[in-house]
Amino acid sequence: MLEGKTVNLRLMEKEDLALFAEWLNKPEFFGEYNPLRQMSRMEIEKDFDKSTLEQGQFIVEKKDGSKIGYICHFVLVHPCGKLLEIGYSLVPNERGKGYCTEAVNIMLDYLFLSKDTMRIQAQTDPRNVASQKVLEKAGFKKEGTLRKNLFERGEWRDAYIYSILREEWKEPKILTKTT
Ligand SMILES: CC(C)(COP(=O)(O)OP(=O)(O)OC[C@H]1O[C@@H](n2cnc3c(N)ncnc32)[C@H](O)[C@@H]1OP(=O)(O)O)[C@@H](O)C(=O)NCCC(=O)NCCS
Repeated sequence: MLEGKTVNLRLMEKEDLALFAEWLNKPEFFGEYNPLRQMSRMEIEKDFDKSTLEQGQFIVEKKDGSKIGYICHFVLVHPCGKLLEIGYSLVPNERGKGYCTEAVNIMLDYLFLSKDTMRIQAQTDPRNVASQKVLEKAGFKKEGTLRKNLFERGEWRDAYIYSILREEWKEPKILTKTT
């Protein structure tokens, strides 16, 4: 369990998959700027069983234990190396309360403390202002636009690419007690 001030990140377990399937299959959970995905419980379980140490899915929980969303890290493989990327979504009625910014800060502390990586990146739709604010508040910098890189909802869409470098993160902000 990674403990923050208002939320904790808890590794997703098999018992969470029913709730995750419910979230994932509701278009409003991912909002209007993300792929319109539909996955059966069986497909979600198969993906979960295939997951490796290089990827991690965490449930975002409030301090009272209520589950309000998820945040993940995964690796994009490139011939010259690996790119570590994060993604996140919260249930609609828990947005705009600062929870995602804290979840991203916890994730940055966790990844820079545990992985030998120089950078962490994230992609977001240019219209997704809430997500861009989260990334900028957590110290990410916008690098540019990946033009027409995703086919979503019947059209090719651009994405903004953001990153934060280890030297910009500097030190843990939330996970200060790691023993
Ligand atoms: C993106 C998302 C995770 C943000 O989570 P959140 O907990 O609401 O984020 P926070 O409360 O930490 O911060 C959001 C910031 O965006 C602002 N914001 C929220 N909605 C906004 C909008 N439609 N337009 C402009 N700003 C907006 C908030 O005011 C806040 O900024 P502030 O701290 O300056 O007031 C959430 O909106 C979500 O789950 N969206 C659907 C899925 C998604 O888009 N995931 C990201 C994919 S890249």
